[in-house]
Amino acid sequence: MARPPSAPDDDLFELRLARSAPDLFPMLEALYGARPDYPAFRERLVKALRKGWADRPADLKRLDLIRDLEPDWFQRPGMAGYVFYIDRFAGTLKGILGRLDYLEDLGVTYVHLMPCLKPRPGDSDGGYSVMDYRQINPAYGTMADFEAVSAALRARGMSLCVDLVLNHTAKEHAWARKAAKGDPKYQDYYLMFDTPDLPRQYERTLVEVFPDNAPGNFTHYPEFGKWVWTTFNEHQWDLNWANPAVFLEIVEVMLFLANKGVDVLRLDAVAFMWKRMGTRCQSEPEVHMILQALRACSRIASAAVIHLEEAIVAPAEMLPYLGRGRHDGKEGNLAYHNSLMVQFWSALATRDTRLMTHVLATHFPDRLTNATYATYIRCHDDIGWAVTDEDAAAVGLSGQAHRAFLSDFYEGSFPGSFAQGALFQANPATGDKRISGSFASLAGLERAGSAGDAAGVEMAVQRILMGHALIAAWGGIPLIYMGDELALTNDYSYQSDPHHAHDSRWVHRPRMNWALAETRHTGDTPAARVFRGTRQILARRAATPALHGAVPVRVATCGNHGVFAFQRLAPTGTLLGLFNFTEGWQQVPEAWARSLGAQAMHDALSDQRVETHHGQIVLPPYARVWLT
Ligand code: GLC
Ligand code: GLC
Repeated sequence: MARPPSAPDDDLFELRLARSAPDLFPMLEALYGARPDYPAFRERLVKALRKGWADRPADLKRLDLIRDLEPDWFQRPGMAGYVFYIDRFAGTLKGILGRLDYLEDLGVTYVHLMPCLKPRPGDSDGGYSVMDYRQINPAYGTMADFEAVSAALRARGMSLCVDLVLNHTAKEHAWARKAAKGDPKYQDYYLMFDTPDLPRQYERTLVEVFPDNAPGNFTHYPEFGKWVWTTFNEHQWDLNWANPAVFLEIVEVMLFLANKGVDVLRLDAVAFMWKRMGTRCQSEPEVHMILQALRACSRIASAAVIHLEEAIVAPAEMLPYLGRGRHDGKEGNLAYHNSLMVQFWSALATRDTRLMTHVLATHFPDRLTNATYATYIRCHDDIGWAVTDEDAAAVGLSGQAHRAFLSDFYEGSFPGSFAQGALFQANPATGDKRISGSFASLAGLERAGSAGDAAGVEMAVQRILMGHALIAAWGGIPLIYMGDELALTNDYSYQSDPHHAHDSRWVHRPRMNWALAETRHTGDTPAARVFRGTRQILARRAATPALHGAVPVRVATCGNHGVFAFQRLAPTGTLLGLFNFTEGWQQVPEAWARSLGAQAMHDALSDQRVETHHGQIVLPPYARVWLT
């Protein structure tokens, strides 16, 4: 007798559930097992997963299968990301459809739409203060527009990444409103206290994320007599992940977004999800249990979807987000390589790669399981100088002094600095000063440009291209932040916007300059040259199998402190990346390069043979070479 048509589908769900059950239930049991409502929660969760699967469109189920067959799809060298605010890039979601040719021209295969779900009105932290996870920001369009964008991207082989803010909701979210009205069910969705005693005790070990404009981690609301946990801004209320109802709600949101065609969920500010008295309440072990369980849920009901975890923390703390120990291969598929970014800027300022070499060689394994990095030079956020005192000391630097130097250098106040940036959340209590600024302005283009310094402009162009060549080669998905492919400089107009003036991160969130983009193929401006250079980097990356994310990476030392070097140890032969972090000419011995496996002396980036002189490879200012 013929089986009903839905049966193979049901089978598949049961098989996926069985496959991921060992990754899911032990985590949930550890988190929530002691609660009397655990069995009921577990049942409701499985029901939600089953419903998510039942609702999943057929073309996405097909994509699930394709990615089961090609589980390395996101590690391939053809992957290249582009990150933008919808309004600043294309006006609306519909507007994006008319810009896909531009993205394809650049070589983009992964698109991160900055927060696009319905935010609270007014200042919404760039959309990270979400009031409805099931609606699109009406300023950008409708859910139908969103689905049209997701389908258009898929048709071009581009993946879609969106933000899922799971540490907090806007205080205008329906859950928060009910909580403020006194509904105990929803008060338990957040972290609310009747007196300031516990908040005070917690504060003793907490850090402040926004000390300038949102000091402290709690907000007192006399209207309803509670102290509410607000790590970020006052309007962003931290969710209570110790309550399984929150877990269930977020899983339903995840599946909802997955079924709209999202490929990559960027899980925002994950480090902060679990609180423990006497700690910084960051990266507690339970965070990793939650994240592993969430990943298992995606694997069960939307297997095509991967997770990008945003944890901007020190190396030792960051790696677990990509799954270490018992979570190996089971947690994030992607996490931001914050250290690579910070070390790029540090080495660029000092013209010395020793700290970079030390940090990247010491703290990072040569490969990851089912995971890779999101590599980037700039993003929509500030740069925090995440350099530990120990690492600084290992290369003879004072951590405190070096961090202060980097802030001064990139703010532009350090004598001789090429950079022009802005301070972000300077904290006199800790001496911490973070930096805002666009890639081009921090790399020297703004200053040199306005001084009419042609040589300085040239250096800035080379610095930008060196950075893009670095993130394209290290291993992971390189993420180009909108405008950096055209060397857009700082945008100071935020200072006259009342919702943005307090937040210098808007200096590096410019509007797209489409007139400039039109000149990209013919112009001789820095913008056009950076565009063509970046395009070439991404094209050559796609053609270079050694840059696959699963290929081990090993930092190398060549004896020249101005040059950063690493090997990609591919089965087909080694690729040796060389990056000159100085505005001078540098050389490295040919014999050394050959001993590390670069036998052909062929540069996979320029696709040309590398000439040597008297046994030396000669590197022009800010040269980048992918030697095979
Ligand atoms: C993340 C975002 C940042 C935001 C914060 C709070 O770090 O990248 O822009 O301010 O989360 O949601
Ligand atoms: C993030 C980071 C912090 C960053 C901030 C927003 O979650 O932890 O380093 O500066 O939120 O800018």
